[in-house]
Order: sequence, then structure tokens, then C-alpha cells
Amino acid sequence: MAKDVIIACDFSSKEDVVRFLDKFTEESLYIKIGMELFYAEGPEIVKEIKKRGHKIFLDLKLHDIPNTVKKAMKVLSNLDVDMCNVHASGTVAMMEAALEGLTREDGSRPLLIAVTQLTSTSEERMKNDLLIHEPMDQVVMHYASNAKKAGLDGVVCSPLEAKKVHDTCGENFLTITPGVRFADGEVGDQVRVMTPAQAREIGSDYIVVGRPITAAENPVEAYRRCVAEFLG
Ligand code: C5P
Repeated sequence: MAKDVIIACDFSSKEDVVRFLDKFTEESLYIKIGMELFYAEGPEIVKEIKKRGHKIFLDLKLHDIPNTVKKAMKVLSNLDVDMCNVHASGTVAMMEAALEGLTREDGSRPLLIAVTQLTSTSEERMKNDLLIHEPMDQVVMHYASNAKKAGLDGVVCSPLEAKKVHDTCGENFLTITPGVRFADGEVGDQVRVMTPAQAREIGSDYIVVGRPITAAENPVEAYRRCVAEFLG
């Protein structure tokens, strides 16, 4: 199964992204771009990164009625992204519609991943704001099972949840895990972190790494270190 390091390119403009990518002359990268960059630069930023031979995880976290998500996914599929995502809380029907929209006429499609509960949502907020009373890990596993039921490829989760997701949904169900830090690096605002080597040990399929690479003095060196630790 493909395992890879995905670089979270949390830059706010195309110029910053291009400046960053220009440092990598030999590597073919997997780049995550999020709402800020996509809303600022539009589909052109996807085309620019793809033109350079890199893969793209378009992290837009869609959540709407099934028909709208299906049509939006068709557009993203035509953009030739490699991975995109939806909120599992949009229901199994919404995830099935997303998958349908994403699948091209020849049967090929980008990977489709679900967001379970955002790590910014505490159990208390889930209870008070959303009226969900089950424990967080039970909710996360239920959402992951729903994603699997809908035919999705995996979930974004904390590295600490990756093993349980695999136990619940099977080894082939992908776990995409942010919150990765080098043992000797800055933790920043992330709370529960793992090193790339630990993420490998617990069975993460893709790690999403932002600042440890993008803010490093030498991003190419930091990326190579991350790949070496994660892929072994
Ligand atoms: O810079 P850093 O390595 O913390 O970046 C992690 C990336 O993963 C960011 O783009 C962040 O938004 C994303 N992410 C996360 N935690 C989640 C979901 C996404 O850190 N639960």
C-alpha cells in the first residue's frame, strides 16, 4: 500500500507556494492545499502544482446536501487532484454522493477521505453544542465506520487513533495523520504529537506535516529526514 509524507502548504499566496516548491529540484512531492489558498488563488493553484509533477491533497472538507456535494466533487475530479475530503457528519448518503461525483467516466477517481470530529472540537463542546453524548473515541470510530460503509478510502485522524481505526475498519482503510513533529523540533500549537518514526510504527498511511518542513531553515533537508524516518 502507498505510504507517503504529505506537506501541508499553509501559505496564503501562489508566490509563497512557488518559492517553496522551487527549492525542491529532484523530489516529486505530495502537497496539501487548504481553503485559504484555494479560495485566494482558485483552481489555477492546483494546475500550477500539478504542472510541476506533484500530487495534491485538496483539503476543502465539503459538507452540504448530497446533490450539491456530488456536483462539486465532479468539478474537483476534473481538476485532477489526487485526494480530497468531506465531513463524515454530512451522513453516509452525502459521502456516497461525493464518491459518485468524484468517479470519472473511465472509473478512475481521486482518493476520498472523511474528516471525523475535528480535533478542535472537545468532548464537552460536542455534548453541549451538538448534543452528541457518546465518548469522543466512540464517535470517531462510528464516523470512520460510516465512511467505510459509504465506500470511502479512509479518514483523517490523530496518530493516536490510527491503530483503532485500522482495528475497526480494516488494515486497508487509510489513516491520514497530522500532528507530526521531529523529536528535537518545536511542537508549536499541536498538543498530541508523534514523530514520523512513531507514526510509522502505529501504522499511519500518510502523515501530514506542515511547519516542521515549511518553516525549517532547510525545507528540503527536513522533508528528506521526514521521509527517511517515516518510510524507514
Ligand atoms: O504545521 P503543522 O504540521 O501543524 O500542520 C498540520 C496540518 O494538518 C495543518 O494544515 C492543519 O490544519 C492540518 N490538520 C491538523 N489537525 C487536524 C486536521 C488537520 O493539524 N485534526
